[in-house]
Amino acid sequence: MAAVDRFYLLYREISRSCSFYMEALALVGAWYTVRKCVSLVFDTYSVLRLHVIPRLGGEIDLVKRYGKWAVVTGGTDGIGKAYAEELAKRGVSVILISRNKDKLEAVSRSISETYKVETDFIVADFSKGREPYPAIKEALRDREIGILVNNVGIFYPYPDYFTNLPEDLLWDIINVNIASANMMMHIVLPGMVEKKKGAIVNISSASCCQPTPMMTIYGASKAYLDYCSRALHYEYASKGIFFQSLTPFVVATKMVTGSTVVSRKSFFFPSAEEYASHAVSTLGLSMRTTGYWKHAIKFTLAEHLPEWLWAWFAMHFCRIMVKEVIRQSERGSSKCPVY
Ligand SMILES: NC(=O)c1ccc[n+]([C@@H]2O[C@H](COP(=O)([O-])OP(=O)(O)OC[C@H]3O[C@@H](n4cnc5c(N)ncnc54)[C@H](OP(=O)(O)O)[C@@H]3O)[C@@H](O)[C@H]2O)c1
Repeated sequence: MAAVDRFYLLYREISRSCSFYMEALALVGAWYTVRKCVSLVFDTYSVLRLHVIPRLGGEIDLVKRYGKWAVVTGGTDGIGKAYAEELAKRGVSVILISRNKDKLEAVSRSISETYKVETDFIVADFSKGREPYPAIKEALRDREIGILVNNVGIFYPYPDYFTNLPEDLLWDIINVNIASANMMMHIVLPGMVEKKKGAIVNISSASCCQPTPMMTIYGASKAYLDYCSRALHYEYASKGIFFQSLTPFVVATKMVTGSTVVSRKSFFFPSAEEYASHAVSTLGLSMRTTGYWKHAIKFTLAEHLPEWLWAWFAMHFCRIMVKEVIRQSERGSSKCPVY
């Protein structure tokens, strides 16, 4: 057989077996494309359902679905106050809990006058370990609590290395960020289960999406809330209780006044009012959300970053904040204590 014939035979053999592999690869490619298209359609629908449709008038009647009263911890400032106002706007009566009686009186009066709902308040300091809960339990005894918002939380005056944090702050973070949510849920959940309806919102933070250095203890306390909330959803969904873990990025409140970079409202840093109006409209729709579409974009990106890259960004961002605080303290204009 001539060399040219042998080459032709070889070529035919190779192309026959290649066409089989090509067809197999084409099938894999088609399957992958269909899967991606379906998940894109599904994701787009989820985003519209969560962040667009409720704001076009498709809101849930919260009183009918969950009950008359909502309890908001840390409800006199920032996100808690704005969230309480949003609930009142939707006809829910609110009970605010925080430390300062004058602020509580002023905020609850303003909410009741503006939105024509009943309001009440409880003075309590969540940093005092077990101390505040018997009085809270007594005050809530005969109330039909439909919604609990575990909003109270504290952050460091500015991000820092673990060993630089004062011992008191470490205890306060555990008591205020973690224990308060545990105890408040333990107080109101039995009543909700009995009525087979209720919603519990735990305000976590986007810092829980990956380990966040220089905000270590704060981020870990927020990861606790996130995990707790999600697990409780599975435990209690069949009993009619809706749990939501809210994971916002930065919201311009007094908590972040230490940095002029993040304490001013901007495209990605909404005011508490803007954030709360979006977050409340996601209640009952998603068990885990940032509550705000711009933060949802960032959260999706952040979750997919390699851990080392997220940690690098966190350290970089935190060092900028620390430098700013130190500069301000040298100029005597610092808004927070420098250890
Ligand atoms: N701001 C953000 O960028 C951001 C981002 C992600 C998550 N979060 C979370 O969102 C929640 C609210 O944050 P925020 O920025 O709105 O905070 P904020 O503006 O500092 O307000 C905190 C509220 O909690 C109350 N409070 C503080 N310590 C308390 C204590 N020991 N006992 C009882 N009440 C206490 C304060 O009232 P009194 O001082 O009058 O007691 C105030 O009403 C927190 O859980 C925070 O971790 C915030």
